[in-house]
Amino acid sequence: MKKIEAIIQPFKLEDVKEALKAIGVDGLTITEARGHGRQKGHKEVYRGMEYEVDLLPKIRLETVIPDSRLDEITRAIASAARTGKLGDGKIFVYDVLDAIRIRNDDTGEAAL
Ligand SMILES: Nc1ncnc2c1ncn2[C@@H]1O[C@H](COP(=O)(O)OP(=O)(O)OP(=O)(O)O)[C@@H](O)[C@H]1O
Ligand SMILES: [Mg+2]
Repeated sequence: MKKIEAIIQPFKLEDVKEALKAIGVDGLTITEARGHGRQKGHKEVYRGMEYEVDLLPKIRLETVIPDSRLDEITRAIASAARTGKLGDGKIFVYDVLDAIRIRNDDTGEAAL
């Protein structure tokens, strides 16, 4: 199993959720996050003062999936989240040792 962690623009969340639903990805977790990439955020003016806004709002979407679906699912996320502009986000992939469904002790891919 793999865990996909996608950091995306908040306004792309609905598109990404729809894309995942369309290909039958059932389980996912969303967290509101803040971060920066290579441009290190940007400056914003508020009430005449310039503020350093170095951590921009992002959404972290996590889903644990069978190894066999990794390419399909990362491609679906990337194409739904892409605008082609700076700050579109990033996808990280992790190995997952195990999963356990608490209700009935299903393990491994059966628990997904
Ligand atoms: N190396 C990283 N480690 C952890 N989080 C990251 C990393 N790079 C980017 N992120 C997260 O992804 C968000 C979006 O990053 P972003 O798309 O701006 O990356 P980038 O490398 O600057 O690419 P681009 O040049 O296309 O903007 C960041 O705000 C941060 O939350
Ligand atoms: Mg960037």
